[in-house]
Amino acid sequence: MKGQRWKWLLVAWMSLSLIFIFPLYLHAVENSECLDCHGDPEMVKELPNGKTISLYVNPKKFEASVHGQNGIACTDCHSDIEELNYEKEVPHPVPVASVDCTDCHDEEGTAYEESVHAKARAKGIKDAPTCATCHQYHYTPYLAAYTVREKEDLFCLKCHNPMLSHKWLTQKDTHFAHVDCSLCHAKTKGMTNLRLYNPLTMKFIPGGEIVKAFGTSYEGFLGVLDANKNRQLENEELNAITDKLNRKGFNAAFYGEMVAESAPEVHKISKDAIRKCNTCHSPQSPYLRSVNLILTKSNGKVSSYKVEKAALSSFTTSKFYLLNATKVKWVDIIGFILILGGVCFAGGHFFIRIITIPIRRKREG
Ligand code: HEC
Ligand code: HEC
Ligand code: HEC
Ligand code: HEC
Ligand code: HEC
Ligand code: HEC
Ligand code: HEC
Repeated sequence: MKGQRWKWLLVAWMSLSLIFIFPLYLHAVENSECLDCHGDPEMVKELPNGKTISLYVNPKKFEASVHGQNGIACTDCHSDIEELNYEKEVPHPVPVASVDCTDCHDEEGTAYEESVHAKARAKGIKDAPTCATCHQYHYTPYLAAYTVREKEDLFCLKCHNPMLSHKWLTQKDTHFAHVDCSLCHAKTKGMTNLRLYNPLTMKFIPGGEIVKAFGTSYEGFLGVLDANKNRQLENEELNAITDKLNRKGFNAAFYGEMVAESAPEVHKISKDAIRKCNTCHSPQSPYLRSVNLILTKSNGKVSSYKVEKAALSSFTTSKFYLLNATKVKWVDIIGFILILGGVCFAGGHFFIRIITIPIRRKREG
């Protein structure tokens, strides 16, 4: 009997503690409570000068953001709001403390502190970007699916016009289309990514359409293509992809990009940047150590498949003679390639693919 009584006491004690502890958890404010007010598109705040600023947060777009997808709550960022007090007209303190992204992203913060931008801000240059200037703070997207061009539009071209500088760089437009600004300016680890696109419309083909054309899934894609089962894609296997897509009416070609690895170091932007041509234009380029075919997903993420590095050069070599038949513009490129040691111009295979499309068409026709 005695033992039994102890058990009951224990149960009673535990239930009582739960009753007291539980409300502490309930106090964490739900996003839906904030959105009761801030989810109203009309919600604005009037400034002393008569102008208004919107206090609206689009619930759907927030949910689709990186933070929404990872269950980050309004109060995880706006951490000075611990509870809502509806007795007051504004149920929380105003002004709300500014958000510190480095609470969760401290490595990015450290790298950013060493950038030209943080230094410019420290000198009082207000136009230099902070975390929230570059990344849309409420609607931060996953960035992996973005092309080099899209990232530049989003991040750098708002404030810089690289066409006005970089006088030493030949074919500026091509470089800015195929190389991340941060690969040169942050000297990060990099890699080469291939994507499938339609060279006539210049549109990238969504990964979902590609796996559907092959009757498979993102997980099954490699299995379907990797004929020799060595877990990577070679020259013939890459050709098989475009052949099949073209038969299905896609008009697909590969588009190559040299990109920075997604890591905190991309934030260490400096003026002391990479400039030597053979850092990239050589089979030994560190950015060719990892070559991947990527398929983009609609949530901003990608599925990535390893490509054998040699596929780049063997492809180039096999199509190389075609260059002679093209316009004078290409003569200096040929000269450049020869200077760099002939046909193993691994990084250059992409543009050859692109420029030879009309010729290959003509031959086929
Ligand atoms: C009952 C309506 C209401 C609710 C609920 C509410 N807010 Fe507000 N919020 C306001 C009003 C009104 C203002 C404008 C205050 C002012 O005029 O400065 C405001 C302003 C803000 C601002 C900008 C403040 C500034 O400094 O300019 C932020 C950030 C904010 N709210 C976040 C939140 C978050 C996060 C939640 C949920 C935890 C929340 N709010 C819940 C009404 C609300
Ligand atoms: C990833 C962090 C983050 C999350 C999560 C977040 N906010 Fe914000 N919010 C910010 C930043 C950054 C600002 C800009 C002001 C600043 O620097 O503090 C801001 C500003 C605001 C403002 C002022 C108006 C504006 O758009 O600049 C309101 C209102 C607001 N947030 C409400 C919310 C609500 C409601 C939620 C949840 C649905 C939320 N926030 C979630 C980071 C965040
Ligand atoms: C000048 C624009 C710029 C500023 C300022 C900036 N970022 Fe970034 N951020 C980028 C770019 C560009 C990438 C890389 C995108 C890619 O190539 O995948 C990135 C990537 C990231 C990533 C994902 C990669 C990783 O590190 O894991 C995080 C997280 C991030 N930034 C957070 C921050 C935070 C926090 C701050 C402020 C301390 C900040 N960013 C400031 C441009 C910026
Ligand atoms: C409460 C913690 C928290 C805060 C504060 C926070 N983040 Fe995040 N952030 C996360 C989490 C969690 C992820 C998802 C990490 C993942 O998927 O690996 C993330 C991911 C990111 C990414 C990665 C995108 C990609 O492509 O992988 C960026 C960019 C980013 N945050 C920017 C910001 C910015 C800018 C702020 C400030 C306005 C901020 N974060 C504040 C928790 C936070
Ligand atoms: C919101 C505007 C803004 C954005 C966005 C921005 N920058 Fe800057 N950038 C500046 C300002 C301001 C300076 C400081 C200029 C100065 O010191 O006079 C600067 C300086 C630089 C410098 C050094 C230039 C020099 O002459 O010292 C480089 C390199 C640079 N940015 C590259 C980038 C890259 C790459 C991106 C995209 C990832 C980017 N910036 C995004 C505003 C911006
Ligand atoms: C191939 C490597 C490379 C790429 C790609 C590159 N840069 Fe640069 N950039 C450099 C080098 C090296 C310098 C310093 C020498 C100079 O001024 O031209 C420089 C200089 C700059 C400057 C300072 C210009 C000045 O007038 O002082 C800015 C700003 C800048 N780059 C922004 C960008 C932006 C934005 C992008 C992406 C669109 C980009 N860069 C892409 C290598 C590169
Ligand atoms: C950071 C890496 C990098 C650096 C540094 C670099 N390139 Fe490139 N270059 C590329 C990439 C990537 C391409 C795009 C290949 C493609 O897809 O067409 C390219 C393309 C080219 C092209 C072909 C242009 C076209 O119209 O297709 C020429 C010519 C070229 N680079 C010359 C140079 C010269 C000369 C230098 C040094 C002054 C240099 N590159 C520095 C990466 C680089």
